[in-house]
Amino acid sequence: MSIRQDHELKAMQQISAIVAKTLKSMCDYAAPGMSTKALDNFGGALLQSFGARSAPALAYKFPGHTCISVNEEIAHGIPKKNKVLQEGDLVNIDVSAEADGFWADNGCSFVLGEDFHGYGNLVQASKEILRTAIEQIKGGVRIAVIGRSIEAEAKKRGFKVIKNLAGHGVGKSLHESPEEILNCYDRFNRERFKVNSTVAIETFIATKSTLALKQRDGWTLKGRQGGFVAQHEHTVLVTDSQPIILTTGNGVWD
Ligand code: CO
Ligand code: CO
Repeated sequence: MSIRQDHELKAMQQISAIVAKTLKSMCDYAAPGMSTKALDNFGGALLQSFGARSAPALAYKFPGHTCISVNEEIAHGIPKKNKVLQEGDLVNIDVSAEADGFWADNGCSFVLGEDFHGYGNLVQASKEILRTAIEQIKGGVRIAVIGRSIEAEAKKRGFKVIKNLAGHGVGKSLHESPEEILNCYDRFNRERFKVNSTVAIETFIATKSTLALKQRDGWTLKGRQGGFVAQHEHTVLVTDSQPIILTTGNGVWD
């Protein structure tokens, strides 16, 4: 959305702080032996206590309050009673929510406890690449250029990017214009970032796959060529210099 008035900025700051706090609390709460359903219920209760509503449930009837994707799952993992977290798992939590008609979105991948399987490099790369991408965004910058940068940074570190998942505009709804802020270069995309707009920037850094495929449950995404993916996401306000990160409270860069 394009922010024109003070109250709109306040409302965006508020819902962004809520999703950030919920994400951070869920990451801290996650523990081996816990089901993803229990973790999701914890997040759902937090959102409710803040007066917010789960965005994926509200907008898409997603069967959960938050998306929790484990190991080879990339995104849109459905919280389940029988899916129990284990030490060393690669976990992604994505929290998006609405309050008073304003929407914000953020996500984080992390290794649960000891990094038995060596996912740490992938997670670290995704965090750094998100930072590098966001630092380059300002009014007038081509969206395609950010995609090119994300892919180049991934390559430099020996990783790939998922090409059919993307960041997006956010604010008056969960997904709005600009529709696709890809992790790769699309030379046909002439769109530019606009000052005072709010966008969700997200990485999809992959070990093997370049395409995400929907599974039979109708939600869960996995890599077509297998492997693992790390995602980090912030909701930001575009300015004519450095963007203002509205979900900074999620602790992704702490
Ligand atoms: Co998200
Ligand atoms: Co998003």
